[in-house]
Amino acid sequence: MTLFPDAVPRTGETLVLSNGYRATINWLTADAKPLLEAAMLRLSPESSRRRFFTPRFRLSERELAFLTSPDGIRHYALGVSGRADDGSVEGIATARFVRLQDEHSTAEIALTVIDPFQRMGVGKALLLRLVRAAAVRGIERLRALILPDNAPVIALLSKYAPTVRFTYDGDLLRADIPLARYALSAAA
Ligand SMILES: CC(C)(COP(=O)(O)OP(=O)(O)OC[C@H]1O[C@@H](n2cnc3c(N)ncnc32)[C@H](O)[C@@H]1OP(=O)(O)O)[C@@H](O)C(=O)NCCC(=O)NCCS
Repeated sequence: MTLFPDAVPRTGETLVLSNGYRATINWLTADAKPLLEAAMLRLSPESSRRRFFTPRFRLSERELAFLTSPDGIRHYALGVSGRADDGSVEGIATARFVRLQDEHSTAEIALTVIDPFQRMGVGKALLLRLVRAAAVRGIERLRALILPDNAPVIALLSKYAPTVRFTYDGDLLRADIPLARYALSAAA
């Protein structure tokens, strides 16, 4: 039974990228496992370092199962796919939030756009959808733990989540986005 009326979001939303590529945003399910695995192989060592803190990250079966089984309440996840030149379906991005175990009103976000599709507006589109999905689920704060030299995500959050506050958490930068004060209009 679905406990939350909007637990599973609308699927198949079209996102036209700045180069005209037509991508589709879908709720992530186990069906996406092969797409996710293939997309991971197209992630550069630098993007992998920024997302997973290690230059070559391989997902274990367990991690793949977790990443593709969001429940829509504690764990919310979207995948972006499209058609490659040969007509096959290709995975190009994922975005998720997972509520903290000991602080349910806070959720940690993670965004990954594979290198050939970066700087085309996918990250912005996914961030906005995460913010809206979190807000309607009563989440009060989104959090990201990021490498201090990850300029793209710092720029993304600073520009499109203008209430973000950055503080150091050991060697990492902690970005906290209070949703009550989040100006959706600023990011529209
Ligand atoms: C961070 C990331 C998700 C951004 O996604 P993206 O699709 O490339 O971002 P967008 O094209 O939507 O850009 C949105 C904004 O981010 C900023 N930005 C994105 N890439 C940037 C870059 N290389 N340099 C500077 N600013 C950048 C800009 O402010 C941009 O706004 P603008 O287009 O209006 O100028 C993507 O670079 C990525 O997946 N990186 C590797 C993994 C990672 O670092 N994940 C974040 C850890 S949670």
